Amino acid sequence: MPDAPSGVGGELFTEERSAEVVAASFAGTPDPRLRQLLTSLVQHLHAFVKDVELTEEEWGAAIAFLTRTGQTSDDVRQEVILLSDVLGVSMLVETINHRTGGTSTESTVLGPFHMVESPPRQLGENIALDGKGEPCLVTGRVTGPDGEPLAGALVDVWQANDDGFYDVQQPGVQPERNLRGLFTADGDGRFWFRSIVPRHYPIPDDGPVGELLAATARHPNRPAHVHFLVTAPGHRPVTTHLFVAGDPYIDSDAVFGVKESLIREFPVVDDPARAAEVGLPNPFRTVHFDVALLRADQPAVHGAPVGRAS
Ligand code: BEZ
Ligand code: FE
Repeated sequence: MPDAPSGVGGELFTEERSAEVVAASFAGTPDPRLRQLLTSLVQHLHAFVKDVELTEEEWGAAIAFLTRTGQTSDDVRQEVILLSDVLGVSMLVETINHRTGGTSTESTVLGPFHMVESPPRQLGENIALDGKGEPCLVTGRVTGPDGEPLAGALVDVWQANDDGFYDVQQPGVQPERNLRGLFTADGDGRFWFRSIVPRHYPIPDDGPVGELLAATARHPNRPAHVHFLVTAPGHRPVTTHLFVAGDPYIDSDAVFGVKESLIREFPVVDDPARAAEVGLPNPFRTVHFDVALLRADQPAVHGAPVGRAS
């Protein structure tokens, strides 16, 4: 006797019961989490198709778009992640998996321009190697959730240059490892380095994701930011950004990465003695960004995000 069609009691596919029939085909999945993921995915996909009454042309266009998105990806470009970014999925996954409950610095997307091996640099070093942009002194302190300093914490930073490109996007144009550095916090958890005030820049928009943004009248810009990845033994790492208050795109980030608790002012310092002390031309800009990490075994407690005070 031939096998019964897959599904509950061999139930045949109908428009009305499509989701249940297809979900039932996964009922025997040995891994319970995989079963849950596929069942829910099928339910939501079928509900979407029914909601919009998807036409065959639209289905074909979607398949062609996804195919081009995959084909645009290679070792250095990840267009599928970029699609996830502009749909807000990357930020949602990031936020769900790094709830802080207000007891530590909030996280945001890693983005495609992090270097696994950032160049180690001394505290105070200037990471702006191309001489462009408005000079800025960046200071901060890494602490645990109760304000205890985390001596020796690693502070990995990277940012785009004043033309809006990361060094890896312009090999041979920018100096290698321009605007990136791996700093080790001092005995009091403090870090400081010289850089430039970041500027807003567009995400790569010459591929299928750019077509999607153009077709939906969305701009491709990210508000000005400096990336931080901060780690300390016994504590949960945080991947985050420092955003510039007043940036024109602060409320419309193309990848939805902005969180209120991560926005800072960059005041001007006009003090020749201080400028000489830190090794910057006078006047210069400053910003202070403290980072609080949860202990590795610590559950997030609910409350307001860690504030802007230093
Ligand atoms: C970035 O900030 O580097 C970035 C994040 C997501 C997509 C593209 C760029
Ligand atoms: Fe970035």
